[in-house]
Amino acid sequence: MPTISFASSKGGAGKSTSAVLLATELAQRETSVILIDADPNQPVLRWSRKPGKPENLAAIGGVTEDALIGFRGGEVGTGSRDKGGLVRGCERG
Ligand SMILES: Nc1ncnc2c1ncn2[C@@H]1O[C@H](COP(=O)(O)OP(=O)(O)OP(=O)(O)O)[C@@H](O)[C@H]1O
Ligand SMILES: [Mg+2]
Repeated sequence: MPTISFASSKGGAGKSTSAVLLATELAQRETSVILIDADPNQPVLRWSRKPGKPENLAAIGGVTEDALIGFRGGEVGTGSRDKGGLVRGCERG
């Protein structure tokens, strides 16, 4: 499963916008997409709750740094290196 990250320490660089646009484009080409919003402000998760999102695009919020480090092949844990934690405790949009 390909994983694409949008990361920059510079605020307002276009990370969220780019992630939403690319995810939407991929979903419209019938690829299932999961958007993981690691921003504590959850802008992508809030966007995903608005009408018009493709059915095959899911957004996950409330993801900690530890959970991202523990991310393996489609599993997102919320505990540190929790390989069994499939989206457990994460907020889904
Ligand atoms: N390619 C672009 N052209 C013009 N404006 C853009 C482009 N990409 C993003 N923007 C605008 O720039 C602003 C910042 O974008 P965005 O919120 O995606 O950045 P960010 O890197 O996620 O910011 P933050 O660090 O605050 O999370 C927004 O107003 C957005 O509409
Ligand atoms: Mg952002």
